[in-house]
This record gives sequence, C-alpha cells and structure tokens, in this order.
Amino acid sequence: MEMTENWIEAAIDGDVPDQGTLQVRCGSELICLYRIGATHFATQDECSHGSASLSEGFIVEDGLIECPLHQGSFDIKTGRAVGVPCKDDIRVYPVKIENGKIFVQVSAQEGYSSK
Ligand code: FES
Repeated sequence: MEMTENWIEAAIDGDVPDQGTLQVRCGSELICLYRIGATHFATQDECSHGSASLSEGFIVEDGLIECPLHQGSFDIKTGRAVGVPCKDDIRVYPVKIENGKIFVQVSAQEGYSSK
C-alpha cells in the first residue's frame, strides 16, 4: 500500500463494481468504497448501529447504502443516517483516482457527527 501525503492507495480503479461496494483497509481504518457510475465514494465500513459491515450491504437507490443487519441506511455522500434504526452518522472520506488507482484521504472525517 502506497502512501502519498495524506492519501492512501486503497484499490485499483475497476475493483469496485458499478452500484457496488468493496471493503478495503487503509492503515488502521476499515473503509467501504462505493462506485455509482463513474464516481467513487468512501465511508467507514462499520455501521454506526452495530457490528455490521456496510460493504456487505446494498446500494438501494442512488446514493444510499442499506446495512445488511437491520436494514438501516446512510447517505453515501454525506454519511448521514437516513433510515432507522441508524441514528448516528458515519465518517466519509475524500476519494480521488490517479493513474488508475483509487486513493482515500483517511485523515479527513468530513460528514461525521454524533447525535
Ligand atoms: S447494525 Fe446496521 S442497522 Fe443495525
């Protein structure tokens, strides 16, 4: 895994299926990568409601990930909890593609909040 400034190489472009997810480890963080069309997103992989991996969930409509355990949901772009039983938002991370590789900026925690 290559580190460039605060960006960590997480996967190869094409590893994440369209409307799909991929769990990756970036340093100590487990991250869920998403691809919607040509755009990639990244959030923390663990659901804020319990011990479930969002990368095993489903993109139920453009921009929402449904947790596989209790079917709570989050906005992939903002990390906001939008479907019960989830109340706490999840972290989102900036993503960029360079030279066919997906990089995640794990030091950023935009979109994270605790209610
Ligand atoms: S663990 Fe995700 S909704 Fe309960």
